[in-house]
Amino acid sequence: MVRMLRGLVTLAAVVVALECCELPRRTDGRCVLFNFGDSNSDTGSLPAAYGFYLGPPAGRRFFNRTTGRWSDGRLYIDFIAENLGIRYLSPYLESSGPNFTDGVNFAVAGAAVASNQSAIPFTMATQVNQFLHFKNRTRELRPLGQGSMLPEEDFRGGVYSIDVGQNDITLAFLANLTLPEIVADGGPLAAVAAKVEEAVRALYASGARKFWVYNTGPIGCLPQTLALRQRPGDELDPAGCLARYNAAARALNANLAAACRRLADEYCGSASVVCTDMYAVKYDLFANHDQYGIERPLMACCGHGGPPYNYVNLKTCGQPTATACPEGERHVSWDGVHYTEDANAIVASKILSGDFSQPRTKLQALCK
Ligand SMILES: *[C@@H]1O[C@H](CO)[C@@H](O)[C@H](O)[C@H]1NC(C)=O
Ligand SMILES: *[C@@H]1O[C@H](CO)[C@@H](O)[C@H](O)[C@H]1NC(C)=O
Ligand SMILES: *[C@@H]1O[C@H](CO)[C@@H](O)[C@H](O)[C@H]1NC(C)=O
Ligand SMILES: *[C@@H]1O[C@H](CO)[C@@H](O)[C@H](O)[C@H]1NC(C)=O
Ligand SMILES: *[C@@H]1O[C@H](CO)[C@@H](O)[C@H](O)[C@H]1NC(C)=O
Repeated sequence: MVRMLRGLVTLAAVVVALECCELPRRTDGRCVLFNFGDSNSDTGSLPAAYGFYLGPPAGRRFFNRTTGRWSDGRLYIDFIAENLGIRYLSPYLESSGPNFTDGVNFAVAGAAVASNQSAIPFTMATQVNQFLHFKNRTRELRPLGQGSMLPEEDFRGGVYSIDVGQNDITLAFLANLTLPEIVADGGPLAAVAAKVEEAVRALYASGARKFWVYNTGPIGCLPQTLALRQRPGDELDPAGCLARYNAAARALNANLAAACRRLADEYCGSASVVCTDMYAVKYDLFANHDQYGIERPLMACCGHGGPPYNYVNLKTCGQPTATACPEGERHVSWDGVHYTEDANAIVASKILSGDFSQPRTKLQALCK
């Protein structure tokens, strides 16, 4: 009897889960993407905002010019755009010939969520405000045939992706907080998850209904972290990554997962909230690098100093004192902080598989 009841309860849970996965569909099959984040998905905000020149060898692999992307080529979000059949997203801050027909990228390199210590003022909350302004202006200008001309359906049916948190971890450690302080209830990482949840709620209030939330990657595996933040006696994990930084990332991700579940339950039936495990996607590159033809996953392609990390402060990629690895040599890390095009292609294909998402949904399906 108990077993039968348990069976019924399980069945009920499955039915509820399926109902929650029922997505609002578009009839025209069009994908529109609004993205919020940091350098991991920034397609060129710093040149637009500051006239910052991110010179060669950035872009050497694909764009053959400076685009403001922190990579030798395309970012994972560029591969996603290709897969969805849409244009690469223009940065929101780009006033010189942007094209917002297929969406807008609000992500800015250096942006933090809850920390007030970043030199970059474009926090998650500010990016959401910029979106709200963009939507208002679109409505005002549409009747005049000006502005983005995005129809209301694109705001309702668009996918809102969020990829933030990495800079908050860096800033918390730089403020000399200990790991227990960083991961504590009421600590800086809990604040990040709370602010991401706030952002989703604000976007929902504006009419957004499809959310795609990434958690944060294994920051302890980045050459910069390993080269600059490692102290005597620090523990390295089996992939050679700095354990306390990855522990902070996982703590942030536990908070984000809880926020995601809360939002998904609450919006069940009225909106989709899909959470994608970027940590697992990226950690695999370091742990199973052989499988991807990558010899030294913890060493930056472009930098200074050679093995093991090829990362020296003030001699970083783009400066005359840095050199890049031979073209064609496969690396996870481009400049010690950001991923190579090779790595970004793998990251994008795993994201697009849907296998790392909760609920297990493909972005293509959510989008359409
Ligand atoms: C960049 O240059 C390479 C080699 O010259 C060429 O194959 C490629 O199409 C160029 N890419 C773009 C986006 O222009
Ligand atoms: C913007 O992109 C769309 C879709 O690719 C294209 O149809 C349109 O002509 C572009 N607009 C401008 C001003 O380049
Ligand atoms: C930044 O945040 C910290 C911790 O929340 C706070 O103590 C500090 O006063 C804030 N600084 C500024 C300039 O707002
Ligand atoms: C957008 O317009 C609404 C009213 O139409 C207003 O309440 C809101 O403050 C505006 N938001 C921004 C960021 O301009
Ligand atoms: C953190 O500690 C280091 C080393 O003790 C010190 O140089 C640095 O000024 C401290 N930073 C802050 C923000 O207190």
